[in-house]
Amino acid sequence: MPSIINDPKQLCDAARDAANNAYVEYSNFRVGAALTTKSATYTGANVESASYGLSLCAERAAITKAVNAGDRDLVRLAIACVDAKPELGINGIMPCGACRQWFIEFAPELEIIIWSENDGKIIGTYIAEDLLSNPFKL
Ligand code: THU
Repeated sequence: MPSIINDPKQLCDAARDAANNAYVEYSNFRVGAALTTKSATYTGANVESASYGLSLCAERAAITKAVNAGDRDLVRLAIACVDAKPELGINGIMPCGACRQWFIEFAPELEIIIWSENDGKIIGTYIAEDLLSNPFKL
């Protein structure tokens, strides 16, 4: 993988690849994320726990990697829920509320790209702050 991916489709391909590393013993629902900052691209996959509530989403795994590399200039994030149920449509592949709060923590203007494995294409592009109204602030 090149150190930085800006093209949305290539970023989705990186997210789909990342999903292969998902640890999904309980849900069998693999998710991959690929996050481009101003200087690099980071990937993540979901990691589950026998204590279900401790599971980590792919999006937050990728953000955690970037932040731990000292890189908080988040620009664009692609999400690939590769095991999504077709009958759920877009609701089966959108980021959860916890991840939305994280997006806003670091980058309200983060571009969120939604890949649909069932359609074989990008089916939505959003700005993080448009995905969570009245986010909690401290
Ligand atoms: N999951 C993500 O990785 N990202 C989301 O935005 C929604 C859900 C994961 C958590 C869990 O491992 C599995 O998908 C089923 O909920």
